Amino acid sequence: MSKKFYITTAIDYANGSPHLGHAYEKVLTDIVARFRRLMGDEVRFLTGLDEHGQKVQMSAEKAGVTPIEVCDRLAAEFEGLCAALHITNDDYIRTTQDRHKVVVQDVLQKLYDKGEIYKADYNGYYSVRQEQFVTEKEKVDGKWPEIYGEVTEVTESNYFFKLSQYQDWLVDTIKTNEQMIYPRFRSADALQFLKEPLNDLCISRPKERLEWGIELPFDKDFVTYVWFDALTNYITAAGYGTSEFDEQWPADYHVIGKDILVPPHAVYWPIMLKALDIDLPKHFLVHGWWLSSGNKMSKSSGEVVKPLDLIEQFGPDAFRYFVTREMNVGQDSEFSLDLFMRRYNSDLANDLGNLVSRLLNMGQRYAEGKVPSVEVQDAPEKELKSLWEDSAKELIPLFENFQFHKALELIFTFVSGINRYAETRAPWKLAKSEEAADQAALRTSLATMAEALRLAVVMLTPVMPEISDKIRALVGAESFDRLEGQLEWGSKLEGKALGEKAILFPRPESK
Ligand code: MSP
Repeated sequence: MSKKFYITTAIDYANGSPHLGHAYEKVLTDIVARFRRLMGDEVRFLTGLDEHGQKVQMSAEKAGVTPIEVCDRLAAEFEGLCAALHITNDDYIRTTQDRHKVVVQDVLQKLYDKGEIYKADYNGYYSVRQEQFVTEKEKVDGKWPEIYGEVTEVTESNYFFKLSQYQDWLVDTIKTNEQMIYPRFRSADALQFLKEPLNDLCISRPKERLEWGIELPFDKDFVTYVWFDALTNYITAAGYGTSEFDEQWPADYHVIGKDILVPPHAVYWPIMLKALDIDLPKHFLVHGWWLSSGNKMSKSSGEVVKPLDLIEQFGPDAFRYFVTREMNVGQDSEFSLDLFMRRYNSDLANDLGNLVSRLLNMGQRYAEGKVPSVEVQDAPEKELKSLWEDSAKELIPLFENFQFHKALELIFTFVSGINRYAETRAPWKLAKSEEAADQAALRTSLATMAEALRLAVVMLTPVMPEISDKIRALVGAESFDRLEGQLEWGSKLEGKALGEKAILFPRPESK
């Protein structure tokens, strides 16, 4: 029984429509998933929706509908976004599904029976906006920061999960397991948080205050609350409690944004698993934020980019290309439509799109629509080949290390190299000559361009699956589902049919 490569995204809150941040995380995870499949792994890819909590309950009340109606509508939107972006998730979990409730209740009961969960009175400050208790420590200049909204003092009985007894173990685990958190510098955030003594985690809400949640199996007056419910999704979908679980778990990567690494993923989740005797996930892949005018793009920030609008106008691959090219996975990135248009026009429409249509055009005019033979190996061919070989050896390591922006830069430098090669060889001039040497150079240049384009799009496949596959077919290459052998120069395209001229990236005004 071989272990699958199990990768997950965060599950999105059902409290607003998807925005660029949500779309990005799915694209990033999808690229890793598609790349691992090409490397021969059997991948299992999970994403989903986090549906319980006060905000959902409140927005349903406000709209005069039931919470599940709100969630159903948003689930359709988020799943629609996945489809529009060609995300290859194998499963979509919703925390209101029975399969999930069963696991959450099972896990809660196990921890309660082990004495890891206890009931106590709690007096504290509560932020409705963040749905969490906050402490004086969080005040800045004597005031609650804006992100907490209205904060009120409440006293209530609740259930708590013991965290502090695992503190030393967790510090040691993070310190000795340097590969656990990517990028590595984010481990420091977790270790910094763990310098202070850990407070036990409040995991319940009384039903009189919050009904929209999963009932505690040992106390019907309470529901479990946010993180305990949400984090458990990763094991629910891996079949916790069934024979499938060992084939999937531990997760290879939890892909998350930097705001939810500490404390939920780097502190609560490992401790929950440890207390349950379940292996820890192997890695967290932590990405930065998309910013809009310097602020995190979020529902409450108001300035959100609706990914569906961009996808509708420019296609999913242009969107996928842009977010991957612009974002260095560990850092934040500013979104602007201007930048999007610049990338679209210059990298995609001009450099790549025009190159393909130029080749196809010449293929029809000068080579009867077939890839001709390579007959000469002069300086221009040698130069292009060596440019490729230098790039090719870096591409897989860059993908393995999530340096997708650099991989794309390298691929597009190679695409510029093909354009330069075309200018140097100028097949349109060679076609005017009847000299045998010029005719041989003409055939060689078209064949070389076809081969170089085939190579250029191999590693674009995980990023721009549809366009890459189109270009592959247009230059007469076979489809592939493994990378093996694909990056080597010198495939046998000779005699293969070249496609008809195609416009891959239409100018927006012509749409
Ligand atoms: N429901 C929780 C996650 C539970 S995971 C067990 C949550 N939901 S969220 O909708 O607020 O965020 C979902 C994911 O989108 C998170 O990983 C978050 O970091 C990411 N993003 C939300 N806004 C973002 C940006 N502006 N930029 C990039 N990603 C950000 O947190």
